[in-house]
Amino acid sequence: QADRSDTNQRLYLAQQMAAEHFAENLRRSPEAIDYLKNRGLTGNIARDYQLGFALDRFDDLMPALLRQFSEKELLTAGLLTRKDGGKPYDRFRGRIMFPIRDTRGRVVGFGGRVLAQQEPKYLNTAETPIFHKGRQLYGLYEARKASPRLESLLVVEGYMDVIALAQYGIKNAVATLGTATTHEHVERLLRVVPKIVFCFDGDRAGKEAAWRALEQALPSIRDGVELRFLLLPEGEDPDTLVRQLGTEAFVQQVQAATPLSDMLIQGLGERFDQSSREGRAALGLEAVRLLRLMPEGLLRSQIISDIAPLAGVSSAELNERLGKAESRPA
Ligand code: CTP
Ligand code: MN
Ligand code: MN
Ligand code: MN
Ligand code: MN
Repeated sequence: QADRSDTNQRLYLAQQMAAEHFAENLRRSPEAIDYLKNRGLTGNIARDYQLGFALDRFDDLMPALLRQFSEKELLTAGLLTRKDGGKPYDRFRGRIMFPIRDTRGRVVGFGGRVLAQQEPKYLNTAETPIFHKGRQLYGLYEARKASPRLESLLVVEGYMDVIALAQYGIKNAVATLGTATTHEHVERLLRVVPKIVFCFDGDRAGKEAAWRALEQALPSIRDGVELRFLLLPEGEDPDTLVRQLGTEAFVQQVQAATPLSDMLIQGLGERFDQSSREGRAALGLEAVRLLRLMPEGLLRSQIISDIAPLAGVSSAELNERLGKAESRPA
């Protein structure tokens, strides 16, 4: 549809101009530059990712872009916002701006981080015709640009993780935008590389995120696909850890990351109380649910053999349960 694609072209242009505006702001904002320096970022990496700054004002971006765009267009673009039909104003204020690019390198939206401790810490572009938060992967365009022959991708949680790793020469990290990893994310990444290492924060939320990602990845297990998990020490995220360990040691940890099958077995073991029959039965029931998501094959057979003792049953019994209709409770 010509009409919709023309509208979208305008939206891409508005995002690009906003990114340039924010980048120019950053060059002239010592507080924002200090913030990034204090976090250990170099000017080069800030340029590579076209980091910017939204001034702490309601009318900085607006007048600059109103020369070329209507208020309506800028509202649709998610760059302006308004309260109950009131006067529009800048959506992003007083934030470090991370332009989010699609696979063709077009800016489709932004993540914005506050400088001081303030809520929300990150504000993303709301859904627009060209920005669907749940589908974007931050850093994928930059990763592909940096190495045309990528072999693996590292999935991390945050913008800062992607950028810190890149600064340390690890240019294959991507982040979901604060949303849980979906099956669609996994398949999109597997169209680019055969190997994914999930590397979430060393906190409760990160552990939950890893377990969810594992479940979303189970249907994608197949010959030639390698899926691993790197669990970080408590309180660390890839940004803090790579600065602490340095590139070589971090890469070593990535290479030694836990295979998905081990994560699955360990995770089940940790989530259920194996000291009671009830706990073991619940473990078995959850195992059956998860194993059903994964294709049949030799790997699944081995996992079944290893899980059966945790569930207090024989492999044959666990296997039989797997074959039965979903509606049958264990
Ligand atoms: N996030 C978000 N909204 C929030 C908090 C987090 O969208 N209020 C998303 C962001 O994409 C963020 C990611 O979740 O990058 C991970 O969150 P967190 O670990 O809290 O932030 P960090 O990336 O570690 O950010 P920083 O190091 O700047 O504190
Ligand atoms: Mn769309
Ligand atoms: Mn976190
Ligand atoms: Mn962090
Ligand atoms: Mn983090």
